[in-house]
Amino acid sequence: MAQRQMHFVGYLIAGPTWHNNGGWRHPESDANLALDPQRYERMARILEDGLFDAVFFVDVLALFDTYQGSFAGQVAGAGQMWYLDPMLLLAAMARVTRNIGLAGTLSTTFYHPFHIARTFATLDHMSAGRAAWNVVTSANTREAQNFGLDRLPPREARYDHADEVMEACDALWNSWDDDAIVYDRKAGIYADPAKLRYADYRGKWVRTRGPLTTPRSPQGRPVIMQAGSSDRGRAFAARWAEVIFTLQHAKPDMQAFYSDIKTRMERNGRRPEDCIITPAIDVILGETDSIAREKAAYLESLVSPEVGVCDLSNALGLDLSQYPLDKPLEDMEITEGARGVLDVILQGSRAGRLTLRDAGYRYGVSQLTPALVGTPEMVADRLQDMFESHCCDGFVVCPSVTPGGYAQFVNMVVPELQRRGLYRSAYTGRTLREHIRG
Ligand SMILES: Cc1cc2nc3c(=O)[nH]c(=O)nc-3n(C[C@H](O)[C@H](O)[C@H](O)COP(=O)(O)O)c2cc1C
Repeated sequence: MAQRQMHFVGYLIAGPTWHNNGGWRHPESDANLALDPQRYERMARILEDGLFDAVFFVDVLALFDTYQGSFAGQVAGAGQMWYLDPMLLLAAMARVTRNIGLAGTLSTTFYHPFHIARTFATLDHMSAGRAAWNVVTSANTREAQNFGLDRLPPREARYDHADEVMEACDALWNSWDDDAIVYDRKAGIYADPAKLRYADYRGKWVRTRGPLTTPRSPQGRPVIMQAGSSDRGRAFAARWAEVIFTLQHAKPDMQAFYSDIKTRMERNGRRPEDCIITPAIDVILGETDSIAREKAAYLESLVSPEVGVCDLSNALGLDLSQYPLDKPLEDMEITEGARGVLDVILQGSRAGRLTLRDAGYRYGVSQLTPALVGTPEMVADRLQDMFESHCCDGFVVCPSVTPGGYAQFVNMVVPELQRRGLYRSAYTGRTLREHIRG
């Protein structure tokens, strides 16, 4: 039997700052080109040279102002703050690549299924079958307010609504048959009306009549990506997802998540291999271990703990400016609810007398994405170990500095994994769905 192959997805943000809040200050960073489409085209080409399954844009729909009721700190320090529309960038990236998958995030809470279905059908046509949708329900009040809502619906309701959005999108994508367009110029028949139908979807919240105004695309429906960590999120992922992102640190947690999702899929009548599970990792490489560590230390020196505290405030939905920066967290009376969340966010770093400044710094380094620092062989060892101990099927690679972080991964780690027989040496499929199942 052929050896199981690792999968890679490249994490992109259509703005200046990745998860390391000082990354944009690095002399080799291309953050100054964040408004230039060539920056994104270049990254797509680098990752395609590395035979990645897909590039993937995260997206957030608000500029946050939780800290001191102002966005000043975040804007000045360039915490994650602005985003171009990823769907339009993906269309540009489709034009300069041939194989790599193109994944965009759209929120089921704010966008209507007709809009979602049409956008992804178009991207799938423009890329000849390489589109993927990262399905999010969104998690922040500020995002809701930008779309005219006072607050977000509770998580359960958001996921119930998301199930309906998925069903409605499916009904729209299925409103055209593959062979509906006959283009018979002699007979004067453009399309066969028998091969189109109404979607007629009527849910509790979502309705759509159809048919979609875009013909069926090469993949039929885009590859569905999702990041569900709550019980309800996992149930949703086990029903729909073909790629799942996770953010985990300890191997036992990864293994438990992996087997939980695969078991839930089987209960839903799906094959475990129909969905790949890919935790996020940062990778910092050097020709020697000490060079890699020096690079990591330099990157850490660029991080702003204050911007990290702003970002933490946004993640917690709590203005942390009311707490002193240099007092140990455990000596502070932090609102009960937020305290628990803070502990989870800072999992693995509770030991020691961590201050809020320390917490902001740790969050600012990577938003808690685990970093693999070392030589290509050392990094490949870690990836291989996680992959072979059923922690995952591959990884979402999130470098602190672009494009160099990707180029180094592709030039140094990819060949090492290929030598070990763990990674493809060419794309074998045509569509993204064929890559992830290959
Ligand atoms: C690697 C990764 C990328 C994510 N990207 C986004 C994103 O682009 N936009 C977003 O609103 N949420 C994003 N999320 C958050 C998830 O959609 C989800 O809300 C979160 O994992 C919590 O899941 P839960 O609601 O099931 O607890 C991401 C999560 C992970 C792990």
